[in-house]
Amino acid sequence: MDFRLLCVISLSVLALAYAEPVKFADCGSSSGKVVLVDINPCPKQPCQLHKGQSYAVNVTFSSAVESQTSKAVVHGVIAGVPIPFPIPVEDGCKCGIACPIQKGKGYNYINQLPVKNEYPLIKLVVEWELRDDSSNDLFCIKFPVQIVS
Ligand SMILES: *[C@@H]1O[C@H](CO)[C@@H](O)[C@H](O)[C@H]1NC(C)=O
Repeated sequence: MDFRLLCVISLSVLALAYAEPVKFADCGSSSGKVVLVDINPCPKQPCQLHKGQSYAVNVTFSSAVESQTSKAVVHGVIAGVPIPFPIPVEDGCKCGIACPIQKGKGYNYINQLPVKNEYPLIKLVVEWELRDDSSNDLFCIKFPVQIVS
């Protein structure tokens, strides 16, 4: 599977739809600053994530550091307990970000949030981090979602 191709496909699908800014909380973006978070589709908040579907995430942020790499780490926080949430492409440099990341520059991180059929029908908080070379967060965002059938 060519993950680079996967991201390009996601990008072109995204271009056809329109994005919804979501309310998010910053959970410690020590190496950058988040400007905007879009989830698509998400016509009402908290975002309703249908099982078996995939959601486009677009995080607009600026970096406060230089970094060769960027790695995404996603958790679903259920009743305060963070549970790893697998995403198809961990490498942020393959998801809209031209690496090496430059200090003071703005970027769009574009990825997909796949919702598996076996997930329970619950409300949870998604915590999405993008880590730099030193494992500090270029961004860390949190937003509530509801998994629906
Ligand atoms: C991501 O969001 C930014 C800011 O709204 C927008 O300019 C850009 O076109 C979006 N990218 C995609 C692929 O949706």
